[in-house]
Amino acid sequence: MKAVQDLSETEARAELERLAKDIASANLAYHRDDAPEISDADYDALRQRNLAIEARFPAMKLEDSPTDAVGAAPGDAFTKTRHAVRMLSLENAFEEEEIEDFAGRIRKFLGHSGELLFTAEPKIDGLSLSLRYEDGQLVQAATRGDGKTGENVTANARTITDIPERIEGAPAVLEVRGEVYMTHAAFEALNERQAQTGGKTFANPRNAAAGSLRQLDPAITASRPLRFFAYAWGEQSAPLAPTQMGSIEALAAMGFSTNPLTVLCDGVSAMVAHYRQIEQGRATLGYDIDGVVYKVNDLALQRRLGFRAATPRWAIAHKFPAQLAWTRLLGIDVQVGRTGALSPVARLQPVTVGGVVVRNATLHNEDYITGRDSRGEQIRGGKDIRIGDWVQVYRAGDVIPKVADVDLAQRPADAEPYRFPDRCPECGSEALRIEGDAVRRCTGGLICPAQAVERLKHFVSRNAFDIEGLGAKQVEAFYKDGWIAQPSDIFELKARYGEGMKQVKNREGWGEKSADKLFAAIDAKRRIELNRLIFALGIRHVGETSAQLLAVHYQGWAQFEAAMTASRLGEGAEWQELTAIDGVGAVLAASLVSTFDNPAERAAIDTLVAHLDVQDVVRRAPVESPVAGKIVVFTGTLEKMSRAEAKNRAEALGAKVSGSVSAKTDLVVAGPGAGTKAKQAEALGVRMIDEDAWIALIGDA
Ligand code: IVH
Repeated sequence: MKAVQDLSETEARAELERLAKDIASANLAYHRDDAPEISDADYDALRQRNLAIEARFPAMKLEDSPTDAVGAAPGDAFTKTRHAVRMLSLENAFEEEEIEDFAGRIRKFLGHSGELLFTAEPKIDGLSLSLRYEDGQLVQAATRGDGKTGENVTANARTITDIPERIEGAPAVLEVRGEVYMTHAAFEALNERQAQTGGKTFANPRNAAAGSLRQLDPAITASRPLRFFAYAWGEQSAPLAPTQMGSIEALAAMGFSTNPLTVLCDGVSAMVAHYRQIEQGRATLGYDIDGVVYKVNDLALQRRLGFRAATPRWAIAHKFPAQLAWTRLLGIDVQVGRTGALSPVARLQPVTVGGVVVRNATLHNEDYITGRDSRGEQIRGGKDIRIGDWVQVYRAGDVIPKVADVDLAQRPADAEPYRFPDRCPECGSEALRIEGDAVRRCTGGLICPAQAVERLKHFVSRNAFDIEGLGAKQVEAFYKDGWIAQPSDIFELKARYGEGMKQVKNREGWGEKSADKLFAAIDAKRRIELNRLIFALGIRHVGETSAQLLAVHYQGWAQFEAAMTASRLGEGAEWQELTAIDGVGAVLAASLVSTFDNPAERAAIDTLVAHLDVQDVVRRAPVESPVAGKIVVFTGTLEKMSRAEAKNRAEALGAKVSGSVSAKTDLVVAGPGAGTKAKQAEALGVRMIDEDAWIALIGDA
């Protein structure tokens, strides 16, 4: 068969017609007659070739092209899709000791002595994809997105040869997860082609893979040779096997590509040995990997270990060391962040670090430049960093590059110590350092344009309000022209600039349609989840996780707002309640309370919330268990499971685990050696049982 590149127009037209017929007849045979005429692989090859020809000759695409017959129509923006089971990320480790700790923590959690079995496999540097099969048929492919909701890229995923359209021997529902990646060879060929045709070139294979998978036209995806390794799963109506390794083998038997460097290890030294071996061969693999992933092999143990907020306890990524390069420091810029923090940024003579051109790198804060850490102790042997210095730049994976070291032998004779500004470079307000804080901050607050813009950018960002069509760039432009100054202005944009002299649709880059779309997108976000709103406010120390904790605790905006208003720094019932939330410390609490106490901040929040319909947190369907809603205290030694596991199990069953006994306690589980707490329980008449009775009570639930 002729390569697609070599087809003449006439040949291409004839082949597209033939392919359309063959694919249509294969579809009928399969779907209508339940009697496939060709193998799945041959079917996939036909579709793949059809797409590739269409990509090369877009004008020739048939009106009833088979490409359009399945999945999302090309040209449609991606729809969002909620993952049935969340897509998580992995904890990272760099040192061997961290792997020892990881295995140690697991043994402790499980109360297991001796070695456990782990799988070890390369960590592929691509993007993760979840493939949903129902009755063996691929029905949906979704990117990870924020872990809960991803983008529906089904039509594009169907063009990837490693992804089977149909699989045999799978349970009725099976979500196969893995990594989409591009080989070095394909990446280079793609960039060359792009450069020749004036298209966009990519910085590295991972960006190229992501850019190619997220194409609105699946024909373009088809013309980019993407690959896929399966390494995990989401929802499944029945387990594939009792072990990680067995499951991977089952996936391979179904026709998925699984990584050949996946092995079973009987402990940390075997794991680390495999890591070293993979690291040695890294350059010859032909695709990018950035570490090795270890996973507990026994799936029953994985279940017992469970998850933290965003990562499983049973797996860890052992990353390869960062990559380094030396270059000249041309200058230092000071940027002002959303909370007023002044961050020094190194402007560098461009240098390639691990395949990526680096022009800027972080210098952290003023102490870092002078050669001290936040406790005043020396770093880099006390060497300061000066403009003109020859500096070492360090980059690890996705992390922002940083200036790591300086070569004093190459310091220019006239280089002077860097003087950190004591005024905000953006608004001129005083920039202060409060004792104990490594960071100098602009005191301009809402009058500082840099802070205001950064807050707005944060407000519209993906995990906050995520307003379609209103990204960082647009916010900056609107701010510059004085159309929006604070988040509430976004919701008044239509009323103010929907008609009249100054209109959104007349701005550069906007038109009637895009302006209407923007107003609709803004309206859609008036209804907002409580956790997103709390996070979007951009209050210092309040990240996504803490916003979620606060939302779950207070359940609704009214309750949250009332509690923040009533809270006094360091005292009173509301303060007690706030700081008693697991995961909310005094620093975070103080930041919240002082924000709500600040009249300007408070006014901005109130004006904003008046535009919104904040959704209450829907309580999770109450777990049915004998301990649901009960306050449980564990004391003494547990023999069948560790404290951590007991707590985890109890919480999963809807109980609240407390560290101290009070009149509110419902149940005390006392093991041998229980002391004060058991006495308190007795005095208070709280029900007390031993570990066996506890296990009998919760049963196998
Ligand atoms: S397991 C619940 N295995 O790394 C854990 N992830 O940093 C599921 N990745 O989002 C992930 N190679 O995109 C796993 N062999 C591998 C992997 C791998 C690459 C990616 C994946 C994940 C990210 C976490």
